Amino acid sequence: MYQKIFDKYPPTKDNLIYILHEIQDNHPQNYVSEEAIKEVSDYLRIPTNHIYGVLTFYTMYSTTPRGRYVIRLCESPPCFVKGANTILKALKKTLNIQTGETTADGLFTLELCACLGLCGNAPVMMINNDFYADLNEEKVEKIIKNIQEESK
Ligand code: FES
Repeated sequence: MYQKIFDKYPPTKDNLIYILHEIQDNHPQNYVSEEAIKEVSDYLRIPTNHIYGVLTFYTMYSTTPRGRYVIRLCESPPCFVKGANTILKALKKTLNIQTGETTADGLFTLELCACLGLCGNAPVMMINNDFYADLNEEKVEKIIKNIQEESK
């Protein structure tokens, strides 16, 4: 099932994180399934518990199904000072979910994360691989609405 991804990477341990990234990015529910872990284990000849270790060490990975769009709002101090908490409230209200939850339509999962490296433009969030900076409540609502529209 993941042969197309494996074909891009020689079976060496160094490629583990790249392979896991691609598997997660290509899954409609944005996670690395148990089945995927077994296949990666066979391909790279490394034990599944080592792969689980990597998946749980890095916060960007998930071993449970998530929304098609994963929102990661930065909660580090520079973003916090610039109002990340207000943005979090706006996201919760717009999506009608709490942190760590997925919307009923399976479209969004809301997560918090550490610094995304754009502190000069705080507050900042990522949705899948895209960055959104200088956020305010109106901007957040618009971003979410746009994605909802595009996904219809
Ligand atoms: S503290 Fe939020 S992007 Fe750096």
